[in-house]
Amino acid sequence: MSPENPHLRFLLFLAVAAVAGGGAAAGTTLTASLSGDQIKIRWTGLPAPDGLDYVGIYSPPSSRDRDFLGYLFLNGSASWRSGSGELSLPRLPTLRAPYQFRLFRWPANEYSYHHVDHDQNPLPHGKHRVAVSADVSVGDPARPEQVHLAFADGIDEMRVMFLCGDRGKRVVRYGLQKEDEKEWKEVDTDVSTYEQKHMCDWPANSSVAWRDPGFVFDGLMKGLEPGRKYFYKVGSDTGGWSEIYSFISRDSEASETNAFLFGDMGTYVPYNTYIRTQDESLSTVKWILRDIEALGDKPAFISHIGDISYARGYSWVWDHFFSQIEPIAASTPYHVCIGNHEYDWPSQPWKPWWATYGKDGGGECGIPYSVKFRMPGNSILPTGNGGPDTRNLYYSFDSGVVHFVYMSTETNFVQGSDQYNFLKADLEKVNRSRTPFVVFQGHRPMYTSSDETRDAALKQQMLQNLEPLLVTYKVTLALWGHVHRYERFCPMKNFQCVNTSSSFQYSGAPVHLVIGMGGQDWQPIWQPRPDHPDVPIFPQPERSMYRGGEFGYTRLVATREKLTLTYVGNHDGQVHDMVEIFSGLVSSNSSVAVAVHDTKLGTEVSTVRKISPLYLEIGGSVLFALLLGFSFGFLIRRKKEAAQWTPVKNEES
Ligand SMILES: *[C@@H]1O[C@H](CO)[C@@H](O)[C@H](O)[C@H]1NC(C)=O
Ligand SMILES: *[C@@H]1O[C@H](CO)[C@@H](O)[C@H](O)[C@H]1NC(C)=O
Ligand SMILES: *[C@@H]1O[C@H](CO)[C@@H](O)[C@H](O)[C@H]1NC(C)=O
Ligand SMILES: *[C@@H]1O[C@H](CO)[C@@H](O)[C@H](O)[C@H]1NC(C)=O
Ligand SMILES: *[C@@H]1O[C@H](CO)[C@@H](O)[C@H](O)[C@H]1NC(C)=O
Repeated sequence: MSPENPHLRFLLFLAVAAVAGGGAAAGTTLTASLSGDQIKIRWTGLPAPDGLDYVGIYSPPSSRDRDFLGYLFLNGSASWRSGSGELSLPRLPTLRAPYQFRLFRWPANEYSYHHVDHDQNPLPHGKHRVAVSADVSVGDPARPEQVHLAFADGIDEMRVMFLCGDRGKRVVRYGLQKEDEKEWKEVDTDVSTYEQKHMCDWPANSSVAWRDPGFVFDGLMKGLEPGRKYFYKVGSDTGGWSEIYSFISRDSEASETNAFLFGDMGTYVPYNTYIRTQDESLSTVKWILRDIEALGDKPAFISHIGDISYARGYSWVWDHFFSQIEPIAASTPYHVCIGNHEYDWPSQPWKPWWATYGKDGGGECGIPYSVKFRMPGNSILPTGNGGPDTRNLYYSFDSGVVHFVYMSTETNFVQGSDQYNFLKADLEKVNRSRTPFVVFQGHRPMYTSSDETRDAALKQQMLQNLEPLLVTYKVTLALWGHVHRYERFCPMKNFQCVNTSSSFQYSGAPVHLVIGMGGQDWQPIWQPRPDHPDVPIFPQPERSMYRGGEFGYTRLVATREKLTLTYVGNHDGQVHDMVEIFSGLVSSNSSVAVAVHDTKLGTEVSTVRKISPLYLEIGGSVLFALLLGFSFGFLIRRKKEAAQWTPVKNEES
């Protein structure tokens, strides 16, 4: 239609002006409803639709227009140009309140580089609302959600935590026979929460990021027989029950240990929001679920060593995170240690000059992490603002033949500190005939060959204060996150390899691995040499046995004789690297001894991982080209019209 008639043209101008000026366009409708496991959002009658028009996602419905959780562009629907269309979302977490959807215009000339998301892309401003949906309830907030397990201090215990919208009484029921619920035991739960005023900084303390976090319930199942399959459910008759889940109880006599370990995984959310979220985390959870199912009735646990949800203050991201991990965490203990993105804020209590502690926690100051998880031990640090203490800092447990230790690289670890004293005493008393292997874990790496010059002084302090402990007490593996890559070092002390094979008997130093490739997509580069255009990246040092940029996780399998750690890539679900360490103990069980012999033969496949100089050069140039690409992309993007939405990786980890 080309409006030749001047009156018509004027009328059309008025209509567009009214819409652009924020007036509700009479006749534009927006409906949203839950149908099965999908939320369907439909609109009709939007005059002169524009490429940036969007639907804002809100909860609770009383939120101001500028306090959206996220948004979807109308162009996600093929028919958007006609002024009508449909978008769908998977069922969202309840957030203890209904959702509401609002349709907005976003005129291109109001596009602003001052109001930006985490990737410096412009964020909608929540002006020019044209239609509002009815409230959409996605579930009963009284019903338990976000169920997850963890080991507790007693070996015959299992902790279960979950979330409800009110603090009314909830219990845990558990037993060995799935069909025989009358015989199940019942235990009470503790309940806790936190408030907006406890958040230490922006954005966590602002109306943009804060939402009612609900109530966290914590129940301890006790008196469990070792290595048995238990069934359980949580809730109450009045508020409703969870589904029935199962887990394999802890078995301190188990002759095999299975664990899945990674750092920096994050969360997927099915819409655009203020911060970068981690689509890749879906694959990590998917493959681990595959492996857990393949283990059948063997006990296992999961270890996520810091940078957990990457909520960084945006509280509903935690709700997405716990919903996302529930398929693995409701049946397998989920263990964590604290990362910079759970904790760091400007006035954190311990901040030596050499530590690069910034504002990475988004003002959460460790509180959601400390309330939503409860790890063994009782390490506690006051927040200093009347809010809940920071906990889950350092602790340890035995799982089968391995002693696992967790530390906090965000709080005091130097000689003489409470944490240092704990770690030393803990390592000292490990009974190596019971647990021939010790795995030590923390968030920021002691070793990495990536370009993390920012953390150089902190690494130096870790080497000085902690490495002697790892060597003296014969730690088998030291696992670190923070750098979003996989890198395996030889067993070493003070940068010196004691063995460069990938299958060897423990020989006096831990194997260090960086396993921060769980999902966050910003990848640091390997240490650059800017003045060497021919080889712009430092050649892989001798001590670095394998390094990769694929997302994934590691899988640990240990018997009394041997610990094997493999690196599984998310792109294909296959093993890409492996190290095996023999304890030197020989089993009295002859069939296991044979198995050891077999795998020794089998390691030929996995031992040769050194990159040839040619490959390195090629790899180096590709990386350099990528680097240039990123920088150019960045410059060009800055200059171009804002319609480009290329995510640019920024300097965070
Ligand atoms: C929809 O619009 C956004 C913002 O302009 C753009 O980034 C995106 O690529 C568009 N999507 C489609 C499918 O055209
Ligand atoms: C959030 O915390 C920061 C740092 O304490 C403070 O400056 C700011 O005023 C707080 N904002 C709100 C909304 O409380
Ligand atoms: C160490 O563990 C072994 C094997 O379980 C046990 O026989 C021994 O008593 C333990 N030693 C100490 C000091 O607890
Ligand atoms: C490394 O370990 C392998 C297997 O245990 C062994 O054969 C080799 O001698 C060791 N090398 C060094 C330098 O210790
Ligand atoms: C020896 O190991 C095999 C395989 O793990 C197991 O089936 C068997 O029960 C073990 N025997 C003894 C005596 O421990």
